[in-house]
Formats: sequence, structure tokens, C-alpha cells
Amino acid sequence: MDSMRIRGGKSLSGKIHISGAKNAALPLLACSLLTDETLTLGNVPHLADIATMANLLGQHGVSIGLNGNQKSSGSTGRVVELKATNITNITAPYDLVRKMRASILVLGPLVARCGEAKVSLPGGCAIGTRPVDLHIKALQQLGADVVLENGYIHARAPKGLKGAEIVFPMATVTGTENVMMAAALAKGETTIVNAAREPEISDLANCLVAMGAQIDGIGSDKLRITGKDRLHAARHDVVADRIEAGTFAMAAAITHGNVELLGAKLEHLHSVAKLLGEAGVNIEETPAGLRVSCPHGLRGVDMMTEPYPGFPTDLQAQMMALMCVAEGASMITETIFENRFMHVPELRRMGANITVHNNSAMIRGIPQLTGAPVMATDLRASVSLALAGLAAKGETILNRIYHLDRGYERLEEKLAACGADIERVREAA
Ligand code: EPZ
Repeated sequence: MDSMRIRGGKSLSGKIHISGAKNAALPLLACSLLTDETLTLGNVPHLADIATMANLLGQHGVSIGLNGNQKSSGSTGRVVELKATNITNITAPYDLVRKMRASILVLGPLVARCGEAKVSLPGGCAIGTRPVDLHIKALQQLGADVVLENGYIHARAPKGLKGAEIVFPMATVTGTENVMMAAALAKGETTIVNAAREPEISDLANCLVAMGAQIDGIGSDKLRITGKDRLHAARHDVVADRIEAGTFAMAAAITHGNVELLGAKLEHLHSVAKLLGEAGVNIEETPAGLRVSCPHGLRGVDMMTEPYPGFPTDLQAQMMALMCVAEGASMITETIFENRFMHVPELRRMGANITVHNNSAMIRGIPQLTGAPVMATDLRASVSLALAGLAAKGETILNRIYHLDRGYERLEEKLAACGADIERVREAA
């Protein structure tokens, strides 16, 4: 397995291009199942998870063309053409689904398009049990007959789905996305109450509308979808990745650097920018994106993760790394997932002073971390260790970086281009 070698102490300066969002691209790819015409997606990031979703869609019968890098809008993302002329297989097998939980996103589209789907239960992951009960209940309310057998979700709606009012007891991102896609081809109107409001959901809604769907309330927590008989070809560019942008903003901050994040959108990062501002980080809009600098010391600030537009759980680990070297104390509370502090023991190995009580961590800032061999455990925990390594004294070896490759495109290249001393160490064959 590859690892990353980081020698800390370099301030980042320069420009970083923000890629298309992983968590927007995944549902957008699944959207191709809803039509027999071509869906063309631009600004698709080069990520392991994207390849996994492409493999999954391919075994359903979707033909997928990856056309080189896109130059039109200045992005480096790929243009991907998907065409689900005929869906030849309605089963999403365990060996693919277990690799990536987001595979659950084929459930809604398959039932809506084919009247049946057999999708392996995704199972949990490092950060939590990750149930999908809300997805299943919503599909049942749309008229699907759903049974759980042999570890699979078997959903049938031979006469098609029927619009309904879906009230989610808690905001669920992929739950909202599955229902949106299913409702787009249902008979009649579906209302989603307490819909998640992440920008990736609005991006999916905009793509569905381009494909001929009728969706009102985009961006709000109440979505109204009027089902259509069919959807048609469309072209859509994946929205910039706000989590990648937030990650690199914290990389600039922790190294007291000065970096321009090309393509980053402040409107998707208000809660993050506000908190970083309180911690002493300057964030300003530029014509090309956001400039992040941290000329002076960092101050400890308290944070609680919340559904959008609150502080995103996907930036919690990165914020914790930053707070490890801030002046004073910081209380970080994780309210979304039950086990998202896997980075804590690894940060402690680097000298961090962190005490955990249930879902809260008290961080007492220290002047400097020290480099050490550390272990990546999940996508966002991994990148928080990379940030810590950028600021640490000495060398950090980050192991099992396949976690990083799931969600960060060319991380070491983007950081090295801004002066970081970071390199990928390929495991001997
Ligand atoms: C999405 O996961 C993201 N993944 C996650 O990003 C992100 O952390 C999460 O939303 C929260 O923002 C993708 O978009 C592919 P949820 P998702 O359903 O949809 C509970 C990353 O690092 N819940 O919004 O699976 C659940 O346990 C990944 O890029 C149920 O109880 O998350 C959690 O406590 C990690 N039953 C809460 O809701 C359900 O049926 C929010 O989960 C569904 C969810």
C-alpha cells in the first residue's frame, strides 16, 4: 500500500484548482439510470470513488465514455458521457457496494426506471453504522414493495412509483437524493419535507431539471417534484467541491501561508469561513475564487458539526488538526456520526493534546506538532493527518493513503505546487 511522506514547516503559497465535488458527482452519475438518452457530465473529478461508481453502473448496462480533460470552463475535470439505453441487470452486488456506501444511490433510479432493484445493504464504515432505513421507508411510501433478504434490499414497483409526501425525521443527504431521483419518474407529485440542503443536492436537482424533471424549492428544506413519464439527454458540470476547498483553506491556515483556491465558492462555505475568521484566518473572495491567509497566530474556537448550512462534518477532522496548534482551547462536538474521532489517537501520536468525552473533544493548543508515522482510517481523518504533517516539526509518514485517493484528486501534486514538501511513496510491487 502506498504512503505519503511529509516534511513539515513549509508555508503554502500559490494557487490550487478546486476539483468537482465527489459528493455531487456520485449522485449525478447514478442519475444516468433515469433515461435511455445520453447524460454528459463535465468537471468530473479523478477519484477512486468515481471509478467505483462507474464500475457499478457499467454492470447495470450503462455505457460510459471518459473523454479527456475538459478545457472549456478552465476546469481540469473529465467529461464523462453515460448512456443507459437498456438496463441489463437490476442487482448492485455486495462486493461492489461494500467498497463504497454511496452505491445505495442506484436504488431509487433503478426502481423508478425498471420497476425493480436488488441493492446490497451497504453495511457500516469506520465512522458509523450508516443505516439506510430512511431510504427504504421513503421508497415504501412511494409505493415500492421492499423486503430485506440475504443482506439485500429487494424493492419492487411493477406498476411504477406514485408520488407521496416524505417527511424525513433528520436530514439525510443520500436519502434526499434517492427520493428526488425516484420521484422524478413517479406518477404525480412528491413533497420532501426536511430535505437536506447541501449544495450537492441542489446540483443534482439542477441536473434533473436539465434532463426534463420538474422540481420546485431547490436549495430549501422542502422540495416538490412533479413526476414525468421520461427524462432526456442533458449536459451538466459538477459543482466545485466545498469540502476540498475547506480542506485546502485549513492547509493554508495551518502553515501560515497564502493560497488562492480557484473555483471555490464562498456561498457554500459561509459557516466554515465564519469560524475560521474567528480563529484568525483571513478569507476573501477573488474574481477566480477565494484567497486564504493566516499571517498571525491561530486562536482556539469551539465548533459543533451540523447539517448544511451548519459546519460540515466532513471538515471536522481537518478543523481539529488546525486547533491542535492554535492558542488556547477548542471544544469540537460531532453531532452527525457516532464514531468520527478516529484521527484523535493519530494526532496524539504527533503530540496533540486532545481529550475526548463521548461526541465532544477538548483540544488544548500546543506550539508545534512533531512528525510521526500515522495511520489513515477514513477519508477525512486521513487528510487531517496530512494537514498536521504540513505543520509538524520533522517527518510524517501517512500510511494506507488509499483512503485519501477516494476523495482527493492529486492531493500531493496540488500541495507540492504550493511549496509543501510532500511525496507519495509507492509500495514496492
Ligand atoms: C453523505 O453521507 C456524504 N456522502 C457524507 O460524506 C457526509 O458526511 C454525510 O452526507 C453528511 O453530510 C455522500 O454524499 C456520498 P446522511 P450520507 O444520510 O448521505 C443518519 C465523505 O467523507 N441516517 O446525511 O450517508 C446517519 O446515520 C462522506 O465524503 C439514518 O439514521 O449521510 C447520520 O447520522 C462521509 N438513516 C445522519 O442520518 C438513514 O436512512 C446523516 O447521514 C440515513 C441516514
